[in-house]
Amino acid sequence: MMRLVFAAVLVTLGLAASANEGGPELLESHVNLDSKNNLQRGARTFVNYCVSCHSASFMRYSRVMEDLGLSKEAVEKNLMFTTDKIGNPMQVAMRPADGEAWFGVAPPDLSVVARARGADWLYSFLMSFYLDPKRPTGVNNLYFPETAMPAVLSALQGVQRKVEHQAEGEAHGGHHAGPALELAVPGSQTPEEYANTVRDLVSFMVYLGEPAKLVRYKVGFWVIAFLFVLFIACYLMNKEYWKDVH
Ligand code: HEC
Repeated sequence: MMRLVFAAVLVTLGLAASANEGGPELLESHVNLDSKNNLQRGARTFVNYCVSCHSASFMRYSRVMEDLGLSKEAVEKNLMFTTDKIGNPMQVAMRPADGEAWFGVAPPDLSVVARARGADWLYSFLMSFYLDPKRPTGVNNLYFPETAMPAVLSALQGVQRKVEHQAEGEAHGGHHAGPALELAVPGSQTPEEYANTVRDLVSFMVYLGEPAKLVRYKVGFWVIAFLFVLFIACYLMNKEYWKDVH
């Protein structure tokens, strides 16, 4: 019996590991959909740094406004760079054909990328660009080797370089640069600030992929609250019924 359990555990671990196709261990994103402030910060980073190449055409600015509790003015002033109508979807600033000509691959729509790749993968990807003179963009990525995407957040994060022959323990020491990367040139944010920026950005992308999640969070809270009240009522009633029996 023990042996069976052991085998089952091994198989499960094997499956979990193969989800990342043998790449380095994923960093944990700790996304947070509870805080509107964090989601708003993520939205700002997204439109400032991503919508120049990527679209999120399943999402309308007006929906972002409602879901994240923003005013129409705030959205128009801070988020809408690629359109002038609040009912429009988040379209890319450039033409997809140009993207393909410039990068070799058209930057994909990011509406549902969080569902396709998972939050931890996105977080790991955005944390792990490093210098590689052999690439046309000058950078490579630990989690997406040979990616055509440039390191668009390097002004914030700084520039990382890969450290070879790093001891296993150190490589996974939990510092923010990710496994076997170190900061060669600092950016405008500290590693902690940058980790938070990416966490908020990935949280926003998780929301993009499934806006209903925000609603579900709210419903979930009230369901639990209701069950709790019901439990107290049942407990008191139970006590009341049995009071005279003992
Ligand atoms: C200068 C253009 C450009 C900008 C700006 C840009 N990207 Fe990209 N991105 C690309 C290209 C090109 C690819 C395709 C990479 C490939 O397939 O090799 C890509 C791919 C990706 C992928 C992988 C999608 C997949 O599943 O294959 C993700 C995730 C991504 N980008 C996220 C972002 C985020 C988040 C931002 C904003 C911080 C951003 N990108 C900004 C050009 C860009």
